[in-house]
Amino acid sequence: MRTLATTLLAVSTSALTVVEHKPFMRKNIDPIVFPGQYVSHMHSFYGSDALTKDLPTTAQLQQGCPSGENPNDLSVYWAPTLYYVNGNNYTEIYPATFKTYYENIDRAEIPFPKDLYMVAGNASAKSQADVQENLNMLTWWCDGNGPEDRNIRPRAALPLSTCTAHLQAILRFPDCVNPNKVTEYAYAAANGNKCPAGMKRMPSLRFSIRYDTRRAIPKGWKGVPPIKLACGDLGVGYCFHGDFINGWYEDSAKTMLQAKGQSFLRIDGAHGNGKTYSKCKAKDQDPSNGTSDYHKSLEMMKQGGHA
Ligand SMILES: *[C@@H]1O[C@H](CO)[C@@H](O)[C@H](O)[C@H]1NC(C)=O
Ligand SMILES: *[C@@H]1O[C@H](CO)[C@@H](O)[C@H](O)[C@H]1NC(C)=O
Ligand SMILES: *[C@@H]1O[C@H](CO)[C@@H](O)[C@H](O)[C@H]1NC(C)=O
Repeated sequence: MRTLATTLLAVSTSALTVVEHKPFMRKNIDPIVFPGQYVSHMHSFYGSDALTKDLPTTAQLQQGCPSGENPNDLSVYWAPTLYYVNGNNYTEIYPATFKTYYENIDRAEIPFPKDLYMVAGNASAKSQADVQENLNMLTWWCDGNGPEDRNIRPRAALPLSTCTAHLQAILRFPDCVNPNKVTEYAYAAANGNKCPAGMKRMPSLRFSIRYDTRRAIPKGWKGVPPIKLACGDLGVGYCFHGDFINGWYEDSAKTMLQAKGQSFLRIDGAHGNGKTYSKCKAKDQDPSNGTSDYHKSLEMMKQGGHA
């Protein structure tokens, strides 16, 4: 007979895998929302560098160099750039770690389909009510020893005093997709924990980002944090969002489903073992267009009619 403790353990360690990625580019593009243009707010990119302003296919991403530790994952992932704001000076706050988790694999019926791309979160959210935390889990907090203040502020705002360790954000992506039309996707959680008719369950992708605020803001803060996302207002994290374009090689995307029943599975594949950074260096493939400068990106958004 199972004890309560082992049952809880089984629940909290449901089959998963994780890949760490390094940032390789900061740029005012969004190939999903504004394909072909340089009019987006600033994003920070992780994963395959076969990415320009145009929406790539899975096969095109696989021509690139990955900035992550798994040579079988040529996906690209991005999020709005996080800045330390000091007067007019906007400095990117880099993550200590950017990790993509693939969870609830026990429940997955299919691997990520070819050419799947998805957005999670609400880039225009201005308040906690716009966030849908019940579906995407978007939360900001100080990891490690805190301080813990999530109960005295909205959970998608930002901590009101300096983090002892890192400023962490998590964001969950949709986990149901129509395999015959991959632009149709949804959260099982929005549908009684089942996929809507015509959709299949896939692994549940979740970003876990630990921003190194101690390094970026040595003096720390008390009250409204001097921190801003490229998409939103000073001191709040509501507009945080994530983008994913599937670049997993087919063999490894299938191997991922074997994580069923195990707590953690490293995803090896035809392109190497799942813990091998590549020798190539991921970089911007279109360096003469667009910008990595915050103030220039605002001008380009205005010119493009998106400010
Ligand atoms: C902007 O801030 C960064 C980080 O605090 C600092 O290294 C840099 O010198 C500042 N630039 C200007 C022009 O003040
Ligand atoms: C996203 O945020 C906007 C506020 O700008 C809000 O009107 C909209 O309802 C939000 N979307 C969702 C799905 O909550
Ligand atoms: C990007 O830059 C290159 C080199 O300067 C230029 O030839 C090309 O036309 C530019 N593309 C766009 C879309 O502006």
